[in-house]
Amino acid sequence: MGKNAIFVLVVLCTTVFVLADFNSCTESTTPGVIDERKKEKAAQEDFKGYPDFGVMMDNATFQDQFPGQNVFKLRQDYPSKMPSKKADFYNLPFDERDKFMDWIMAVRDYCFEGMIDVDFVAQENKIRDWYHMPFLHWGDLASEGFHGLAKEAPISSFQLHANQTEPGQTYALGFYNDFAGTVLHKMWKNQDAPDAYATQGPDGGFPEGTVIFKLLFTDLDETQVPYLNNPFLWNGWVTEVWQDSVSNPRVLKKMSLIQMDLMVRDKRADKYGTGWVFGTFCYNGDLNDGKPMKERVKNLVPVGIQFGNDPTYTENKITPYPAKETWINNDLNETFINPSPDLPAQHLGWGGRLDGPVDLNNASCMSCHATAEFPQIDALVPSAAFKGIRNKAGNLVKLTETKDPAFVKYFQNLKCGTAYSPGKATSTDFSLQVSLALGYYWEWKDGNLGGFYADQFNRGIKPVRRNGQ
Ligand code: HEC
Repeated sequence: MGKNAIFVLVVLCTTVFVLADFNSCTESTTPGVIDERKKEKAAQEDFKGYPDFGVMMDNATFQDQFPGQNVFKLRQDYPSKMPSKKADFYNLPFDERDKFMDWIMAVRDYCFEGMIDVDFVAQENKIRDWYHMPFLHWGDLASEGFHGLAKEAPISSFQLHANQTEPGQTYALGFYNDFAGTVLHKMWKNQDAPDAYATQGPDGGFPEGTVIFKLLFTDLDETQVPYLNNPFLWNGWVTEVWQDSVSNPRVLKKMSLIQMDLMVRDKRADKYGTGWVFGTFCYNGDLNDGKPMKERVKNLVPVGIQFGNDPTYTENKITPYPAKETWINNDLNETFINPSPDLPAQHLGWGGRLDGPVDLNNASCMSCHATAEFPQIDALVPSAAFKGIRNKAGNLVKLTETKDPAFVKYFQNLKCGTAYSPGKATSTDFSLQVSLALGYYWEWKDGNLGGFYADQFNRGIKPVRRNGQ
């Protein structure tokens, strides 16, 4: 019970006691008091919800500049019951090189259905239910109030295009379907103690049927990155530059959609040692052909898919920034890349494994996501991945420490729901938003209470490190 609630109850009880001369507060049978107590109890038991976002322009300015517009609302009425029907694309093969494009376009359709008309406001989708991750409102990377975009990663010069002389930043919003929602329910239903075991196998973990997707935006525009012409734009209340912390004032920027990521839990991927299929898209405004703003998400072109790290393939090659063309490595069996000329030139990841435009050329989707655990013990990219020969612009041309054990481990295949550091952490089942959110939750709680819980302290509070340091 909150201090205020106790105060209200004491005042109420005292008033009744004085006026009606009852023997004791607790024995009172006065209807008004009982109703009040019932309400109190219900309020404690009710799920009050997590904050919708962390930072926003002041309310008066917002009302003035954006009359009638809604701010972002976190969809958090997570389902407790497992849905029965998986998406139709589970009937399509993902792991055949000449058919994967059908699979990834079908997943894209599944993510877009009911969303385009409502500009991706999850609560308004009439076709299917999508939910958001709580607690990304907290800390330096706090989500903002226009669209719930959380600050994500820096973009270095020339990472996206040869014209890109300026660095930039990425902000993103993730969506979880109903299957994934049941895990969020299990994890977050008790606001006083989220259940970190909800994503730990063999009992926990995202069930078959899970689809998670994420829209990624950048503050760079077509003057720096030509394929961001005819952009799909959202307002964002963001830092001026990546280096700014949460204490720097945020500013209003037009953010361009640059990438869409997805991950699908599919039992057919168990035989590759992972259980997950990752996919990503890059925006290409040249394909716009008169589409109005809302429809422009359809300018997202598949980059490719990945269902394993090809652990036995160790050829040490990367595409330095800026990529002039996409190097498709057909020796990889667990990454497939889209050969279409519609795809802007990509740097991809280490050895040509899948990575998106705003991701790094020395990692891969699955190597980074396999590290996801709570607490987040290992860096998201091992330090060896940043050691090598650099060109004059400072960009890596060749890695030199690829025999480093941490680097070798980084490109193994990890089974879903398995901790990257067994015995030291619980798996967050390839979800880095879960790992971040749990970390933020306990930092917030320990800070607020001015103390620690032994079981959480024993886990250790570890900040998430993006770049191996
Ligand atoms: C270097 C690390 C790294 C790489 C590489 C990376 N991601 Fe992520 N990803 C993250 C982090 C951190 C988050 C959570 C924070 C956020 O959403 O902004 C995340 C979030 C996501 C989410 C939301 C669900 C979740 O909780 O994980 C999806 C889906 C996703 N990434 C897919 C991909 C795909 C597809 C690729 C490759 C194209 C990729 N990621 C490459 C670090 C990475």
